[in-house]
Amino acid sequence: MRKLIIAGNWKMYRTINEAIDLANGLKRELFKLDFAYVDVVLCPVFTALSEVAEVLNETDIGLGAQDVYWLDEGAFTGEVSAAMLKDAGCQYVIIGHSERRQFFGETNETVNKKIKASLKHGLIPIICVGENLQEREANNTFKVIEDQIKGSLTEISGEDLLKTVIAYEPVWAIGTGKTATSDQAQEAHKYIRDLLRKMYGEEAAQSIRIQYGGSVKPENIAQLIGKPDVDGALVGGASLKADSFSAIVTRASEVRK
Ligand code: PGA
Repeated sequence: MRKLIIAGNWKMYRTINEAIDLANGLKRELFKLDFAYVDVVLCPVFTALSEVAEVLNETDIGLGAQDVYWLDEGAFTGEVSAAMLKDAGCQYVIIGHSERRQFFGETNETVNKKIKASLKHGLIPIICVGENLQEREANNTFKVIEDQIKGSLTEISGEDLLKTVIAYEPVWAIGTGKTATSDQAQEAHKYIRDLLRKMYGEEAAQSIRIQYGGSVKPENIAQLIGKPDVDGALVGGASLKADSFSAIVTRASEVRK
């Protein structure tokens, strides 16, 4: 059985002090959680990473960034490298989120470079894929996912694939309150796992964790992770409050027990 992974993507919200408060609140709420069933990751803004790392020190809660640049250092104004994220205390990094693809020119090629740089520095990439509404309505969902998976994973070995997490996030469900049904999520997750089976073989396909993202809430998490190929969630809005995020995580671990 794959261990669940639930990550909170705080996006561009929370000042340093607010981030510390939120992390402390979660630490308190998740004090009794059995982490044997679920990995929990918080992804604050860059400026709050090292302070949140300090709050999470000696807990089982992991820390992730929301983006990374692929070179180690250099004259690249505004960018942050994988080595720097490690230095700030990260173990994870979200790569290729649809908001980065949509607003900041992220492509499968840049996603691929970022994955390679993260793996080189021992960061676990959370690789985001997913179709937008137009693509779904034109029946192109699987084609879009296939292009994103193949393009993102170019020259990534089977061994390295197992050090990554995939997040399926249908763009039309992100921040819209419109969750994919658990059947829609399962259909896409199964498609991704079957594709990875063709690319990397049975063992890799069975081991890789595929999270669902898009309007995940305490009310729908149980149904989503009840599906055989849904291994957790990437949570945006509902991760910004300690009570709702801890309710999602706690509910998930109870269902999995
Ligand atoms: P949402 O965001 O939960 O607010 O829909 C999910 C995401 O963008 O990762």
